[in-house]
Parts: sequence; structure tokens; C-alpha cells
Amino acid sequence: MDHFTFTRKDFPTHFLFGSATSSYQIEGHGFGGAGPTHWDSFAVTPGNVVRAENGEIACDHYHHFEADLDLAAAAGLDCYRFSTSWARVLPEGTGTPNPEGLDFYDRLTDAMLERGLKPCATLYHWELPQPLADLGGWRNRDIGNWFAEFTEVIMGRIGDRMYSVAPINEPWCVGWLSHFLGHHAPGLRDIRATARAMHHVLLAHGRAIEVMRGLGMDNLGAVFNFEWATPVDDSAAAQAAAETYDAIYNRFFLGGVFKGAYPEPALKGLEPHLPKGWQEDFKTITQPVDWCGLNYYTRKVIGADDGPWPHYAELDGPLPKTQMGWEIYPDGLYQFLTRTAADYTGDLPLIVTENGMANPDVITGGRVPDPERIAYVDAHLARVRRAIADGVPVQGYFLWSLMDNYEWALGYEKRFGMVHVDFDTLVRTPKASYYALKEALTG
Ligand code: FCB
Repeated sequence: MDHFTFTRKDFPTHFLFGSATSSYQIEGHGFGGAGPTHWDSFAVTPGNVVRAENGEIACDHYHHFEADLDLAAAAGLDCYRFSTSWARVLPEGTGTPNPEGLDFYDRLTDAMLERGLKPCATLYHWELPQPLADLGGWRNRDIGNWFAEFTEVIMGRIGDRMYSVAPINEPWCVGWLSHFLGHHAPGLRDIRATARAMHHVLLAHGRAIEVMRGLGMDNLGAVFNFEWATPVDDSAAAQAAAETYDAIYNRFFLGGVFKGAYPEPALKGLEPHLPKGWQEDFKTITQPVDWCGLNYYTRKVIGADDGPWPHYAELDGPLPKTQMGWEIYPDGLYQFLTRTAADYTGDLPLIVTENGMANPDVITGGRVPDPERIAYVDAHLARVRRAIADGVPVQGYFLWSLMDNYEWALGYEKRFGMVHVDFDTLVRTPKASYYALKEALTG
């Protein structure tokens, strides 16, 4: 596929298109006085990250941000979703700010505004300052206050110019993926740590919202990642397993923020490990937000498992897969948009804050054909249009990602960008999907 089947005119007038990135994945953490993070120590520990790669240089966006924002603006995008590195701003996690770090986000913000891009910030996209990790990181309840301090410092500097802000990217990844599955930093496999991290990440979210309201900011949201759970067959056991998967992955965080309650199938295993008095924290966790962000990539086929809780197994599904091995299942995006509005958020604006695919893209004769990505994005945007036609208040779509970058435990191998990056020379080459999107948005 070379062209999208839609143009801007097929969406409501104020619908926003953007691209998404994150600090550690693109900036180059070795530059500008940033402090060490738990990702740096996770990555040098053998076996955690492909080829033990880290974010030290990444795309060197720290020095190339103006050219990168030129590319985003020239594609006709309205918004630029970026994140602010806690360890760049506060190398010790709390205390004395790094002036170079604050200056960087100040310049980055102004560079977006100069190009007509709306700055859409995420406060935390996974690079926890190492000194805070040493104190227990997300397991330690004090993280609510540490995060409030960081919020105050960074938004005290750039908050006056943000279009929108969400405190934390993907609470499931911060909690379950990093403390139960051990796939991301800090790489723990411990149910008690998991329960605490899952709860504290929402507490920190609520504290950050309180701080930003105090600074007079609005258009504040929350960004969750979702995976649709498809039972492998119609047995009661497979159904129950899929419900548990859904409760842990999708409903736990939505339930906390929008209902002040966690779903039963998740509490079954996690409740004994939650910190004392956890219910009291819902006062903070349920601070009203102005929009809800959904990151969506794939689904999982789920079967029963007779091992210990959570009693489910992730099975290989039959659909075509991306370079990540993730099944391509656009209907899941429609299902999440409709279900989130119906069960949790009502009339609140929904934004697709991430969607996209990894593909083994190569440059041939100066061009980077990526018809798979065009087809993937096209199919997902068709589901967004269907949800809008059904009355779901979807107000924006952000492609992950503007450019190829550090894909966490998978290093630099998985290419998610609409701009190709050569990680030896750092040369950027727009892919066919970039030109197709530009045509759809500006043509
Ligand atoms: C999301 C993350 C993002 C990127 C994509 C592929 O879960 O938010 O940083 O890794 O997946």
C-alpha cells in the first residue's frame, strides 16, 4: 500500500493528528548532565536487553531536535507528544535541578511552538532516576511525593506552554511488565513488588494532577496501554482466564482512576500484597482528568493455565504479525474505544496516544518503502472513524513513532518510525509512510 485511504477531511474538523516519542528512547541520555536511571543499570545487566544496548546516544535528538521537529511539522502534524526525563531534570530524583535539563525542555517547547506544533507532554516515560530506584522506586510509597516534586519543577518551567499533559505513560508497563514479568527495568519478578508498584503508580498520577491543577494548568489526562484478550475457545476456563488478563492489563488502571475501585479478578491475587490503607488513596487517584489516552498495538489469545495465580497462558495467535511478533488486530482499537467510553469515561474526550508497528525497514536507493506500516495505520484509523461515527468522542490520533528509536529491551532492532534512523551515522530518512501521511494531512 502506498497511500492512505483517508484524508484529513474524513475526520471531524478539530480532530488532532500527532506523532509520539519519549525522552530516553530518542534524546541521548549521555548528554546534558542527565543522572543515571534504572534503565542504565538494567541494560548493562547481561540478558536483559538485546546486545545490552542502552539510551546513551539513541537518536541524539538532544542535538538534532530542531531538524526532527521540522520533519514533524512538514508532515502536517498538529501535535508532538514527547516526554520529560525525570533524571535529566533532577539527576538525584529530588533536590537540585540540572539547569541544562530544564533549559533543554524550555528550548524544545519553544521549538514546537515556533513550528505550530502543540506540545503534548508526558511527565514520566520510564527512566526512573537511579537514586530513587535505590530507595525501592515504585515499591516505595514516597514515590507519590517524589513525583509531585518533579512535576512541580518541570511544569513550573514549561507548564505555561503545554497544550496537554499526562503524568505517566502506561501504568501497566511500569507495574506489571517491570515488576511481575521482569521484562523492563527494574526487572523484578515479585508479586508483592508488583501490587505496590501498580498502586503507587496511580497514586503518583493523582499527586501530579493535584500539583498541575495547583499551577493553574488544564487539559490534563491519563495514558493507558491496552491489549484485547481473546479467549482461545469458548470453554468457561478460557473465558475466566481472559477476564483475569483483561482485569490486570486493562481494567485495573481504568478502574482506579475513573471508578476508585480495582476489578475483582485482579484483586484476587494482588490484594494481599497491596499496601495498608490502599483504599484511602482513591481520593487522590480519582482526581478528575480532562481526557483519556489509549495506547493500542495488539491483542492476546488467552487460555487457562493450572499453575499459580493468575492462571492464564498467552498463546500464539493465528493473525499476521509485526516485527515484534504482535498480531495485527485493528478491531481491538474499536472495541477499546467503545468499551472505555461505555464503561468508564462517558463523554470525556478519548485520544489514541500511541498506535503503530515495527517493521524491518531498509533503505534502498534512498527510499524506504514500508507498505506494511501504511496498511496498519490505515486499518486502525478506519476503526477510529467507525468509533466516531458510532458517537464515541475520539479527538486525536498519535502515531508511534516519529522516528526509529531505542525499543527498550529489544534495543535498536525494532523500527517503529515513519522516519528511518541509521544508528551509526544518525542520518534521518523519511519512509514511504511519512510521505503518505503528509499527503493525507496536507494534500
Ligand atoms: C509502548 C511504549 C513505547 C514504545 C511502544 C512500541 O508500550 O509506550 O515507548 O516502546 O510501546
